[in-house]
Amino acid sequence: MKLMIATAAATLTLAGAAFAESHAGSGDAAAGETEFNKCKSCHMIVADDGTEIVKGGRTGPNLYGIIGRQAGSVEDFRYGDSLVAAGEAGLVWDEETFVAYVQDPRGFLREYLEDDGARSKMSYRLRSGMEDVYAYLVSVGPDSGS
Ligand code: HEC
Repeated sequence: MKLMIATAAATLTLAGAAFAESHAGSGDAAAGETEFNKCKSCHMIVADDGTEIVKGGRTGPNLYGIIGRQAGSVEDFRYGDSLVAAGEAGLVWDEETFVAYVQDPRGFLREYLEDDGARSKMSYRLRSGMEDVYAYLVSVGPDSGS
């Protein structure tokens, strides 16, 4: 009997963790906030109402609400043709695509578009902590519930 209760409790805990994971991914948002220092020379995070979550550069698009959004679709940003083409072909930023892209933007676009001539205006490559940055961007996004 004791064992059954323990098993049930463990199952519940796992279900809760899986639920949180499906929303925020597997990363650590607090670690991702620190990691984002590598991005902010080119990317700001500014909410639709103008609230500056992270002051940053303008070389890249505003990353507010980027998760769940079609690639290459931030208004008024002049993207490279390949990223726009990928978005039009159906690329949406979720954990899998985001993690792959930030490790190697050009390589990712070449693979996604099946085009060895594809180019990226983002040449920066993140080597580690991709999941953490993803979790951070979710946590400061419009659907974070906070
Ligand atoms: C040196 C400047 C630079 C740095 C550093 C940089 N980026 Fe970018 N990023 C860009 C540019 C420019 C683009 C637009 C790419 C294009 O149009 O091909 C971009 C595009 C993106 C996109 C696609 C956005 C969209 O609207 O589809 C994501 C996601 C992204 N960057 C994430 C990151 C993250 C996360 C970091 C930090 C780990 C980072 N970038 C660091 C310049 C940069």
